[in-house]
This record gives sequence, C-alpha cells and structure tokens, in this order.
Amino acid sequence: MNRRTFLNWGTAGIAALCAGVAVSLAAVVRFLTPSVFYEPPQMFKIGNAADFSFGPPTFLAEEKIFVFRDREKGFAIASAVCTHLGCTVGYFQTDGRFHCPCHGSVFGADGKVEHGPAPRPLEWFEVTLARDGQLSVDKDRVVPAAYRLMV
Ligand code: FES
Repeated sequence: MNRRTFLNWGTAGIAALCAGVAVSLAAVVRFLTPSVFYEPPQMFKIGNAADFSFGPPTFLAEEKIFVFRDREKGFAIASAVCTHLGCTVGYFQTDGRFHCPCHGSVFGADGKVEHGPAPRPLEWFEVTLARDGQLSVDKDRVVPAAYRLMV
C-alpha cells in the first residue's frame, strides 16, 4: 500500500465515522423529543354576542360546540361530542334534541341521555364575557345545564 492509497482509505474511514456519529446523534435527539399530541386550546373566543341569533343553536364545527342564545335566559354552550365514542351529535330543531348519527344515542334539550348507548349526558361549558366584549368559552370548566350568561 502506497502513501496515497493509505490516505484515501483514511479519509473515507473518517468520513464514515463522522456519518455514523451524526446518525447516532440524530437518533438520540429523536429519542429525547417527546412524542405528544397537542390539543387545541380549551379556552377560546367565539365572537361577539351580536354574531349569534336567537332561536336554534349555532353549531361551531371547529370547536364542536353548540351556542344557544335565548332572549330571556342568555347564552349557553353545549358540547357536540357524544359521550359514547365521541361522534359529533346533531341538534334537531324539530324535536329539540341532540341525535348521534353513529349509534343512535339521543340527548334531551338539557343534554341528558334519553336513549343509549351514551353513558353520560352532554357537557355544558362555561361562557363568559371577555374584556374585549367577545364571548369566551372554557371547555375545561363544565357547568350545569342550567348555567347561562346574560349579555
Ligand atoms: S358515538 Fe354516539 S352513540 Fe356511539
């Protein structure tokens, strides 16, 4: 082996060693980075009171909530997530109930289970008035179905 061949093999070996160390470091960094699913924020603003009409609830698909506005009682926020397996329920104005399309659960106007298999009533969330005048919903704060915000 002459000197040139020896240097070429040495350079290739060092390059292979550096590549191996880089791959190993990348694997370590990936291992140390937590694999978590980030939930959307549980507290969010949904707009001004005037954005919502009286009568049938407004369904906000992204937030999976129904916004009820009543002239005498005020605002109430109902979850649109079925307590059985998490399908999105629909509100039927004809009978004033929530119906789940997946397995047929029916919830009354107050969210109570009228027909299973849903094990628990729909949740109602706290709604407050933010400083900027918008309605703020906190999905971490479950309130009784009778809870209302008068604006
Ligand atoms: S997910 Fe609603 S009844 Fe099963």
